[in-house]
Amino acid sequence: MRTWSFSSAGTLFFGRHAVRLHLGEACERLRAKRAFIVTDAVLVQAGVLAQTLEPLTQNHIHCTTFERVTPEPPVELVRQCVAAARDYQPDVVIGLGGGSNMDTAKLVAMILAHGGDPLDYTGDCRVPGPVRPLIAIPTTAGTGSEVSAAAVFTDTTQHIKVSCLSPFLRPHFAIVDPLLTVSCPAKVTADAGIDALTHAIEAFCAVDNNAFPLPSGERTVYQGKNPLADALAREAIRLIGQYLRRAVQNGHDLEARDGMALAATLGGLAFSNAGVALVHAMEYPVGGAVHVSHGAGNGLLLPYVMAFNKPAARATLAQLPALLGATRHNDDEDAAADEAIALVMKLRADIGIPTRLRDIGVTEDMLPGFATKAFAIKRLLRVNPRMPQSEEEILGIYKMAF
Ligand SMILES: NC(=O)c1ccc[n+]([C@@H]2O[C@H](COP(=O)([O-])OP(=O)(O)OC[C@H]3O[C@@H](n4cnc5c(N)ncnc54)[C@H](O)[C@@H]3O)[C@@H](O)[C@H]2O)c1
Ligand SMILES: [Zn+2]
Repeated sequence: MRTWSFSSAGTLFFGRHAVRLHLGEACERLRAKRAFIVTDAVLVQAGVLAQTLEPLTQNHIHCTTFERVTPEPPVELVRQCVAAARDYQPDVVIGLGGGSNMDTAKLVAMILAHGGDPLDYTGDCRVPGPVRPLIAIPTTAGTGSEVSAAAVFTDTTQHIKVSCLSPFLRPHFAIVDPLLTVSCPAKVTADAGIDALTHAIEAFCAVDNNAFPLPSGERTVYQGKNPLADALAREAIRLIGQYLRRAVQNGHDLEARDGMALAATLGGLAFSNAGVALVHAMEYPVGGAVHVSHGAGNGLLLPYVMAFNKPAARATLAQLPALLGATRHNDDEDAAADEAIALVMKLRADIGIPTRLRDIGVTEDMLPGFATKAFAIKRLLRVNPRMPQSEEEILGIYKMAF
């Protein structure tokens, strides 16, 4: 047996009103007096920024805000945010929003500490040391970025989503207040929610840590399945099966919002140790080429990748129907694995996630280029239970999804 490890954000505060109750305390524990808040215009409009500023001003923290992050942030925008932060010289960076804002905040904290450009640090374990104190406050229930080691943005020159993956990018504090997600429209709820499901399923189906194909001497954040990540992934899948439809149908269903906020954070804890895999590798070129949210792209691809993985992950997939709320037990493993795929397709349809690449602006001639790019992301492919052996195999999955 190999040893395995498990890492998280420094401290997690979770629950309704957690921001009001604990943001001041988090700053105090970081000895912070100047906060740089990374957010966007939608959250300003929704009053979420005002709710966040209140405990900060009460605690005499001087604040400045950057309110211009856009979804799937392009690298140019990250650079602008870094420049604004550099002028202000904060002693804490706060990411307030969905993954786009939290990840931009992570990149700011990284560059304030180490200089350079976001593109200098893409890939696995390339951040040289601790970053500026960082607090992540999610306002979607999806990415798990508040506890994860990843920061994702768009390389607009190469037309691909890229990721900096480093233990130093786990926030010092994660403050998860499900009430902040109540203003999410149905589409944001659905896209983020299915991203959380993708995280949990990819982590749950990951290669076991014992068999993880890591070349000697190489360091990586993702290390394959371990019992703790597994327990968290299971619970995330169960909560999503129970609550995602409800949260999409009625944004004011607070029990569903609580459940989804917890699911997203648990999914983040699971995948940021076990790993995400082929779905994410295949989504990155799609997301870089057409305007689709990361969650919708993942949700679209997820069942096709599950089908590709079935020969290597039948027993694991067969456990999913029970977690997703199926009432009837299927003794036959192969049939249960098929049922898992069908249940994910049904959930995807029920919450309005697109089901065909052609419907989101992808044309058939783009597919070979996508396959080449996805096949190159080895840090994700090696987590996958069935390792694609060629670009052609990946192209085959894209064609199924087309
Ligand atoms: N770092 C990680 O571990 C990780 C993991 C998965 C995905 N990601 C990345 O995160 C990004 C996606 O993040 P996301 O799915 O959270 O969406 P997002 O951050 O892109 O936000 C989507 C939209 O929802 C709006 N929104 C957010 N919260 C809201 C609220 N409470 N009320 C109303 N509107 C709200 C935003 O303003 C934005 O317009 C992608 O770039 C993806 O690649 C990162
Ligand atoms: Zn994701």
